[in-house]
Amino acid sequence: MKAARLYVMGIVGVVAAVWAMVTVAGCANEQGAKGHELYSHYCSHCHGESGKQNEGFNWSSMPDPKPKDLTNKSEMSTFKDEDIFNTISRDMKDTSEEGGDEIGDDDFAVPTMPTFKYTLSEEEIWAIVGYVRGLHGGKMEFKVEERKKQLETALQTAKTNLEQATKAYETAEKQASEEAEKKSEALKKDVEPDESSYANELAVMIKAKKELDAAQAVMTNLVTRPGKGTSVPRPDLTIKPDQLAKTVAYGQRLYENKYGCNGCHSIGKDGGKVGPALDRAGFRLNGTWVYRWLRNPQAMNAESRMPALGLSDADAKAVTIYLTTLKSMMTEEDIQKAAAAAAAEKAEAEKAAAKAKEEKAKK
Ligand code: HEC
Ligand code: HEC
Repeated sequence: MKAARLYVMGIVGVVAAVWAMVTVAGCANEQGAKGHELYSHYCSHCHGESGKQNEGFNWSSMPDPKPKDLTNKSEMSTFKDEDIFNTISRDMKDTSEEGGDEIGDDDFAVPTMPTFKYTLSEEEIWAIVGYVRGLHGGKMEFKVEERKKQLETALQTAKTNLEQATKAYETAEKQASEEAEKKSEALKKDVEPDESSYANELAVMIKAKKELDAAQAVMTNLVTRPGKGTSVPRPDLTIKPDQLAKTVAYGQRLYENKYGCNGCHSIGKDGGKVGPALDRAGFRLNGTWVYRWLRNPQAMNAESRMPALGLSDADAKAVTIYLTTLKSMMTEEDIQKAAAAAAAEKAEAEKAAAKAKEEKAKK
């Protein structure tokens, strides 16, 4: 009984808190400036400041396919605003031929084009879509303000429903208590209220609370960054020795075929140069730190250009364990240089030895 009452109070408290959040402003110009700023920070290294081929500093170091030309009007106009949104805000797919995810004909699944679904708010992603439209002389049709209004209305409705359901529940519960009290006076012994008499109202109230939570979550996604205020728990990175080789191989496969880390990082001479080279990650970096970084880079550096790519616990562990095996003392280029230097040294030594021999023979 007591528990149910506390529960009700909890719900009412939440209703009040939700309302405080829904006051968000934003006009068209503000969105335009926001879109430009976000594009420069998160897209320009690959796509170029004005969206042209080979303009971004990372363009030529990327593995194929190269970042799309966003100024190409005839191609870009075949995409709806929603298509562009869904490209930027999607779940990454494992593109491995064997054992990868199922990929439909219409699915965009290039691992080296990162997702921003876990890094930016929905509103920020729409601002970027608006900016991308401008790069090929287009204009975004999608009305973010309308969507916001719809969500506000849905939230208000859910709130009203919960208030009504809560009232109905309280009335039914009070009635059951009063009846129990009357009975207990008549019988001169304790009588518990009949819970089944208000079970229906309780179920309706719980459902209304769930609906309010869902409406609130959609609204929250619209206006706030998904990783905000969340912290990543410490992982358990212990692994059975017989699982190690398999996990390393799986991590490497995810690194390239699912999360396209090679689009921004190099190992040896291959890969992008947005982030640091990872050849020596196994020496330099601590596994727990890497795991937490991969799950939510923004929690450690809010301004990082590396997006949170939506790695699950299992994926983050496999990629972390793969990275801990990267202990190259040198890059491929270094190895070749070193080999050439060793050969030159050897030739020099042989030459010197031959000369010394010659000199000795002369004497
Ligand atoms: C690490 C480099 C990289 C970054 C960062 C990046 N992209 Fe891309 N982008 C790519 C690659 C690679 C492709 C795939 C090109 C292809 O399919 O031919 C691509 C494709 C696209 C496409 C075309 C999608 C389609 O359906 O064909 C759009 C639109 C796009 N990117 C927008 C963006 C925006 C906006 C951002 C920033 C929020 C961004 N990209 C950040 C590399 C990048
Ligand atoms: C869009 C580019 C981009 C993508 C994609 C990306 N990173 Fe990064 N990464 C960066 C940048 C930039 C940094 C530099 C740190 C910062 O921004 O604070 C970084 C830092 C790191 C670091 C720390 C390196 C150090 O020496 O401090 C690791 C480890 C790392 N990334 C691993 C990965 C892995 C694994 C993936 C794929 C799951 C990945 N990154 C995907 C851009 C990227």
